[in-house]
Amino acid sequence: GRAGQFVGRLQAAPVSLPLLPGKPATTFWAYNGQIPGPAIVAWEGDEVNIAFANTLQQPSTIHWHGMPVPAEQDGNPHAPVLPGQQRTYRFELAAGSAASYWYHPHPHGHTAQQAYMGLAGVFVVKSHDDPLAHLPEQWLVLSDLKLDAHGQIADNSAADRHDGREGQFLLVNGGWQPVIALAEGERQRWRIWNASSARILKLALPAHEVDLVGTDGGLIATPRRIDSLLLSPGERAEIVITGRFTPGQPSALLALPYHRGKAMSPEQDDSLTLATIRQAGNKATATLPDKLRDITPLGAPALKRVVNFSENMADPAAMFLINGKKFDMNRVDFSGKVGQIEEWDIVSQAHMDHPFHLHGTQFQVQARTEDGVWQTEPFLAWRDVVNIPAGETVRLRFVQGMPGLRMFHCHILEHEDAGMMAMLDVG
Ligand code: C2O
Ligand code: CU
Ligand code: CU
Repeated sequence: GRAGQFVGRLQAAPVSLPLLPGKPATTFWAYNGQIPGPAIVAWEGDEVNIAFANTLQQPSTIHWHGMPVPAEQDGNPHAPVLPGQQRTYRFELAAGSAASYWYHPHPHGHTAQQAYMGLAGVFVVKSHDDPLAHLPEQWLVLSDLKLDAHGQIADNSAADRHDGREGQFLLVNGGWQPVIALAEGERQRWRIWNASSARILKLALPAHEVDLVGTDGGLIATPRRIDSLLLSPGERAEIVITGRFTPGQPSALLALPYHRGKAMSPEQDDSLTLATIRQAGNKATATLPDKLRDITPLGAPALKRVVNFSENMADPAAMFLINGKKFDMNRVDFSGKVGQIEEWDIVSQAHMDHPFHLHGTQFQVQARTEDGVWQTEPFLAWRDVVNIPAGETVRLRFVQGMPGLRMFHCHILEHEDAGMMAMLDVG
């Protein structure tokens, strides 16, 4: 592809919007007045230049979740944009970086609140060499909204701070239960973001054929037929859906029941409808190529580390810990090197699932335990979020390509703010 330029402007400000049918307007904090924020589309090789203006009453930053951007451009809590201030984020989109990313605030202690108030948007990097470019696309940003009796965004309760906040309204692209048109036999490429604070989504599209074609870091090597898709907070996937309607049967995108070990709020026991799917005629079925891209497995690690997720209910000031510690902005937890392959075992000594996320790069999951028994990962994929179920371990490998401070944390944003975060200093 030819290198270009992407220039944009994002302003964080309060806005009043009527998102739900028949409900009064709700005050959000939004980028450019939109929920979700404006979708940014750029191409591999582009130079990105985004001016950010913070008109909120608290510090903010913009974190480019999943993107390989220099540490000082990545919205670290160490580089706050103070109320009334501006800054420009600049970075270049490397070859091979085409994927579905997103952006959200990452200021110290305020990430969860700023995200649930509405600050988040998607960032899609495209490639000129895309084997699925012939398919029509749908982009689905999944989030949930918790409103109080007055239709305003409720504060976090003690249960939300413990279990992670879930809302009573599941939204798709900021709307409630949209209708998606699909023809019998038609193939569409869906990019799906779990942009909720804490909800783990077990997605299903009963009756239709669904192939997983991509993860956080872009396309996988070859399509994989799936029945359901577990997407934890922060995580993305690309699927190809082929319309297969049963006459007289309603069709929907569902979140199937999933238990994540919550202690203070009820588990999800029923299937929830995120969107309905309407049959729009018949269409010829486009080809789904067998080969999507090459993914080279990362080799033997130069270094192995253990990252322990734990909960300490006895100490309300330090409930969620990594290697026994609460996050400290002034403490480097690990030191690494540019270009060095690391292997991390993320071990859960917790009672809840905690989705692990690492900044600055993508990782490959090597293996995971299921009920304590190691299972080799069945396929290669680039990811930046992986769920760590209670009591299990996930082994992953990665390389950091640029120096600087990189956060890693649980992507249940209440846990991250409470200190389930640590720092890797890449030298
Ligand atoms: Cu999407 Cu450090 O987060
Ligand atoms: Cu991130
Ligand atoms: Cu967590």
